[in-house]
Parts: sequence; structure tokens; C-alpha cells
Amino acid sequence: MLTKIHHVGVVVHSADEALKFYRDALGLAVTADRVIEDQGVRGVLLEIGNSEIELLEPTRDDTGVAKFLASRGEGMHHICFESDDVDAELEGARAKGIELIDQKPRLGLAGMICFLHPKANHGVLVEFATPLKEGH
Ligand code: CO
Repeated sequence: MLTKIHHVGVVVHSADEALKFYRDALGLAVTADRVIEDQGVRGVLLEIGNSEIELLEPTRDDTGVAKFLASRGEGMHHICFESDDVDAELEGARAKGIELIDQKPRLGLAGMICFLHPKANHGVLVEFATPLKEGH
């Protein structure tokens, strides 16, 4: 079951520069900041209430995020819905014939995640995420 908007992803040239706005000017707290090598991005999560902003800075030129930045510039990239069962969410989408990017959930900044194709979602890249339990 989808329970809330977990985060909104924003692609930026420099997370350090973007933090001057989201962290320093808005006062949001950073809850995660790490490079995800297989995705070629530095991801920074900032908490706002029960949701988050996810800054995505490409660390290589050959990734989807880098290509998005090159072709469209900085800006909103995706919306992530939290689910208590990302596997069931992905299977449900597949069964409904929704075009997928990820054929199975994988580990991401927000926990176990997967992406649906923006063509299937009226132009919005949609992510599902099930956060990992504390201590894992
Ligand atoms: Co995300």
C-alpha cells in the first residue's frame, strides 16, 4: 500500500551549492549524504516533516541523471511514493501493464526502490520506496 510522498527528487549541478538553499536558507536537516556508485550520483536527503527532498548530483556523465541534467538542466526529477511493500507495488504495476524502468527493486538512498517509466505516468518519473528498518 502506498502511504505517503516519501521524497521529491531534484537534479542539481552541485549538491554543495544546492545545500546553501535547502539546508542553510530553508533550515532543513540533512539525513543522508552519500555517493551511490552504481547509479553514478551523490544523493543528499533533507528532512521536511514526514517527507524529504532528495538532491541528486551526477558523479559520472553516462547516467540517466547526468543526461537529464545535460538536456533539461537543474530541476524536479521524480516523485517517490512510500510503500510498505515495494515488491508487491512493482508486481502490481507490472500486472496492470504499466511500463517499468526497474524490473525488480534495488537498494537506493531511500531503501529498497524501483522506478516506473515516465511515459506511463503522464510525464512524471515515479519511484516506489520501502525504507529499510532501523539497524539494517
Ligand atoms: Co528518489
